[in-house]
Amino acid sequence: MRILFIGDVVGSLGREQIETYLPKLKQKYQPQLTIVNGENAAAGKGITEKIYKQLLSYGADFLTMGNHTFDKKEIFDFIDDADKMIRPANYPEGTPGKGYGFVNVNGTEVAIINLQGRTFLPAIDDPFRYADQLIAEVRKRTPIIFIDFHAEATSEKLALAWYLDGKISALVGTHTHVQTADNRILDNGTAYITDVGMTGPYDGIIGTERDAVIKRFLTQLPVRFEATKKGKAQLSGVVIDIDQRSGQATKIERILITDDQPFFE
Ligand SMILES: [Fe+2]
Repeated sequence: MRILFIGDVVGSLGREQIETYLPKLKQKYQPQLTIVNGENAAAGKGITEKIYKQLLSYGADFLTMGNHTFDKKEIFDFIDDADKMIRPANYPEGTPGKGYGFVNVNGTEVAIINLQGRTFLPAIDDPFRYADQLIAEVRKRTPIIFIDFHAEATSEKLALAWYLDGKISALVGTHTHVQTADNRILDNGTAYITDVGMTGPYDGIIGTERDAVIKRFLTQLPVRFEATKKGKAQLSGVVIDIDQRSGQATKIERILITDDQPFFE
């Protein structure tokens, strides 16, 4: 089983990257399942129903989210019907949407879980305890378990990955928008990377207009942040190979497409 995961799609430039490169990446890597983090897909914050459908039409099979899930008001109108999208599972009881889902890939089920960290992010419920509960639940159906852990702190991501090593097939970090070079298979067969990185503007500051971010640092005053809409773009992802019977990962490879590192077929 090969899974292609693409990190945080930011705004229109990010969506264009998906449209351009996803077919090519599928051709090159032949994944059976493609998962995309879409929490920044609508102008950098949240997602709309139109964009949800657009990303699926470009070739994503399933979307994960994060701390910006509920930034666009219309999310409340469609999240409960969006059966190919999940939001972090460790939001309080009663939060709209679901925190995990299953995809049937040629008769084999894959469980996808979305969790959010609480270090330097809103203090929601404990992702470690939630992970324990959800893994016990989804394991009844499949040993192939993929987690998108949307978190800020490297230590929290590493800690959850090692805590779950051997119980899940893969834990990929998202949210910081900068790809880390620490992709590896942990001792008991869990594929890991601290952050997959983002898909969107290459010359902004983690996807946002540079001038606004710099002004904020210089003045400490509130500044309106907007996703960069023009210029160079990038795509970040990972490809993970999983042994279908055991659920253990055998390989995790990084993908980074930028002007400085162009895509090769
Ligand atoms: Fe985020």
